[in-house]
Amino acid sequence: MYKIAVAGTGYVGLVAGVCFAEVGHEVTCVDIDEEKVKLMKSGVSPIYEADLEELMKKNYVAGRIDYTTDYRSAYKEADAIFIGVGTPEQADGSANLSYIAKVARQIAESVEKDCIVVVKSTVPIGTNDKVEQYIRDFLVHDVKVEVASNPEFLAQGTAVHDTLHAERIVIGTESKWAEDVLMKLYEPFHLPMVSVTRRSAEMIKYASNDFLALKISYMNDIANLCELVGADIEDVAKGMSYDDRIGSKFLKAGIGYGGSCFPKDTKALENVARQHGYDLKTVKAAIDINKEQKTKLYEKASKRLMTFAGLKVAVLGLTFKPGTDDLREAASLENVPLLLEQGADIYAYDPVGADSFATLYPEGEHGKGRITYVSHAEDALKEANVCFIFTEWEEVKQIAPKQYDTFMRTPLVYDGRNIYRLDEMKAAGVEYHSIGRAS
Ligand code: UGA
Repeated sequence: MYKIAVAGTGYVGLVAGVCFAEVGHEVTCVDIDEEKVKLMKSGVSPIYEADLEELMKKNYVAGRIDYTTDYRSAYKEADAIFIGVGTPEQADGSANLSYIAKVARQIAESVEKDCIVVVKSTVPIGTNDKVEQYIRDFLVHDVKVEVASNPEFLAQGTAVHDTLHAERIVIGTESKWAEDVLMKLYEPFHLPMVSVTRRSAEMIKYASNDFLALKISYMNDIANLCELVGADIEDVAKGMSYDDRIGSKFLKAGIGYGGSCFPKDTKALENVARQHGYDLKTVKAAIDINKEQKTKLYEKASKRLMTFAGLKVAVLGLTFKPGTDDLREAASLENVPLLLEQGADIYAYDPVGADSFATLYPEGEHGKGRITYVSHAEDALKEANVCFIFTEWEEVKQIAPKQYDTFMRTPLVYDGRNIYRLDEMKAAGVEYHSIGRAS
C-alpha cells in the first residue's frame, strides 16, 4: 500500500482521496482552508455528494485518511502526490493554471524522497510537461520527481460510485517507473487501465467531455428541428438509442448542459485549437448551440405572454442537474435575471440549491422584480401565472400533472427537462411547452 498526498479537497481531490483510503492506501488530503480541514476531520464533507461522508468517517476512524493545512509534512514522504485543484475558465476561455502552479511550487519545496506527482485536474495538452519542468526547477532536495497525468471522469452527484466503479482509469506517463507505480496504486480497484503518454491522457479528458457536450448539443439541435417539422425528440432519441453505436446515454435534449466541466472544457479545447491556428468547428458549434438553448424557453414564453411584469412565476429547480447543490453554468442563472429584469414575481423551489442561489439573488426585490424561496414545490405553484422547470429533481418529477391545474392561476408550464408526457399534461388541462416536441 502507498502513502498518498492529495492537493485540493473539491470534487476531484476529496473523492479521489477518500476512495484511495477505502481500498487501503494511507492518504493525507491538503487544503489551505483551516475551517474546511477542521470540518473534514469531524467527518463533514464540504460538498454535497452521495456516500461521501460515510466513507470519510469510516476511513478517518480506521486511520487511513487525514486532513491538514500543513502541506510540507504531507508531501515530504509521499510516494505519490495527486493534484486535484481547480482550473477555472478565464475570460478568453483558457484554463487558469495558477492553482496548479502554486501546488507545484509547494511540492518542489517539500518532497524529500523520490515520488510521482499525478495531475488529476483537467489541464490543457502539454501542461504536465510544464509542471514537471517547473517542479524540477524549484526542487530543494536531490530527489527524482516525475509528473503523470491521470484525468478524472467522475460526474457530480455520483462521484464516489463513479470512482470506485470507473469504466476506465487513464494514466499518462513518460517512464516505466511512473507507469508501474500508478498501475500498482490502482490495482486494488480492479478496473480496466489505459496506459498512454502524458499528452494523450490530457487529450482523452478533453476529447471525452467535449464529445459528450457535442452529443447533447446535437440532440438539442435536432430537438429544435423536431419542433419545426412536427417530430418528437423523445421518440427520436428512443429510436436512436437501440443502435449500439449510438448508445442510450447523453441523448437527452433539454435546456442546455451546465456544470463546471462541459462549458469550461469545450471553451478550453477550442482555445487550445485556436492557439495552434486550428479552427475546431465541431466544438465551437456545441458552444454556440448550448448558449442559445439556455434561454429557448424564456423566449418562447416571452412571445406567448408579452410581458412578465407583475406575473407570479414559479421556478422549479435551480441547480445544473439533480443530485448536486452546484449552480455553476445552470440554466437558472441565465433565466432568473431575465425574468427579474422583466418585473417577474418569482417563487423558486430547489430541494438542495436554494440557499446557494439566495447568496447570489437574496430574497426580496431586484429592480422591478422580486424573488421568494419556498421549501415545497406546491408553494411555488400556488396562484402562479406560469411555471418554468429547469432541473429534473425527483421532487419535481413527482408533481402530478393535475397539480399544476389545481394550484396555478393559469396552468402554463415551460419544461426544460421534458419530464412529462404530452398526453398526460393535455389530459390534466395544462398548457405545456417542452423541448423538441409539439406544444
Ligand atoms: C461531466 C462528465 O459527465 C464527467 O464524466 C466528467 O468527469 C465531469 O464532467 C468532469 O469533467 O469533471 P458533470 O458535469 O458532473 O460530469 O455532469 P453530467 O452528468 O455530465 O451533466 C452535465 C450537464 O449535461 C448537466 O447540465 C445535464 O443536465 C446535461 N445533460 C446530460 C443533458 O442535457 N442531457 C443529457 O443527456 C445528459
